[in-house]
Amino acid sequence: MKKIIIAGGTSGIGLATAKLFADKGAAVIVTGRSEEKLATARATAPGVTAIQLDSNNEAALKDFFEKTGEIHHLILTLSSSKGGGPFASMNLTDLRAGFDGKFWPHLQTIQSALPWITKNGSITIITAASSTARLTGTAGLAAINGALETMVPILAKELKPLRINAVSPGVIDTEWWDFLNKEEKNAAFENYSQAIAVGRIGNPQDVSNLIETIVNNSYINGAVLNINGGLV
Ligand SMILES: NC(=O)c1ccc[n+]([C@@H]2O[C@H](COP(=O)([O-])OP(=O)(O)OC[C@H]3O[C@@H](n4cnc5c(N)ncnc54)[C@H](OP(=O)(O)O)[C@@H]3O)[C@@H](O)[C@H]2O)c1
Repeated sequence: MKKIIIAGGTSGIGLATAKLFADKGAAVIVTGRSEEKLATARATAPGVTAIQLDSNNEAALKDFFEKTGEIHHLILTLSSSKGGGPFASMNLTDLRAGFDGKFWPHLQTIQSALPWITKNGSITIITAASSTARLTGTAGLAAINGALETMVPILAKELKPLRINAVSPGVIDTEWWDFLNKEEKNAAFENYSQAIAVGRIGNPQDVSNLIETIVNNSYINGAVLNINGGLV
C-alpha cells in the first residue's frame, strides 16, 4: 500500500488530494495546525489520518517523520495568504510573513522528510501562477513561489532517483481566499473568471487530479506544470 503524507492537507487542494488518494487505496496522512481544520478533515475524509503538525517546527517535524517511518510520496500544500499587494505600499513585514508561511516551511518539511522517502518515491509542491502571470499586485507572491519553482529542477538532479515536481495553479476556490469577505471574494472571482480562457475559477479537484498524475507518472521529474485555465 502506498503511504502518502500531505503537509497542509487539512483543507483546500491538500484535502481534495487526500480524499482522491485514500479513495484509491493509499494510506494518507494529512497535517495542519488548527484543531478546527483537523476536525473537518477527520469528518469529511474518514479514510484519511489527520495529525496536528506545524511545518515551521523543526523538532516536531523530525519527530513526526521518525514516527511515520518509510513513506512513498510527500505532497506539500501549505501556505499563508500573506505577501500580496502593490509593491510601493507593501508592508515588508507582510512579505516576510509570506515567506515564513510558505517558503521556509516547505524547505523545512522536505529536509525533515528526505531520510524517510523511498528512493523511487516523489515530492510534489504547489507553487502559484503568480510566479509567471505578471499580474500587478502579485510581485511578493511571485517572489515566494518563483523561489520555490527555481529550486525544483536543481533538486531533481541532487535528490535523484527521488523525483520532485511543482504544480503551479491559477485561481482556485479554497479557504486560501478567506482573507477577503464574501462580497470581495465574489467580486475577485468574477474579475478573474473574465481573465481566464476557460471562463471559470478552478476547484481543488482540478488540481488534485494533476497531482495524482504527477505522483503516479515516473517520467515526470524536475517539472513545473501549470494549471490555470488559461489565466496567463
Ligand atoms: N487557492 C488558490 O487560488 C491558489 C492559487 C495558487 C497557489 N495556491 C497554493 O496552493 C497550496 C494550497 O493552497 P489552498 O488553496 O489549498 O489553501 P488552503 O485551503 O488555505 O490550505 C492550506 C493548508 O495548509 C495548512 N498550513 C498552513 N500553514 C501550515 C503550517 N505551517 N504547517 C502545517 N500546515 C499548514 C492549513 O492548515 P492550518 O492553517 O490549520 O495549519 C491548510 O490545511 C498553497 O501552497 C497555495 O499557495 C493556491
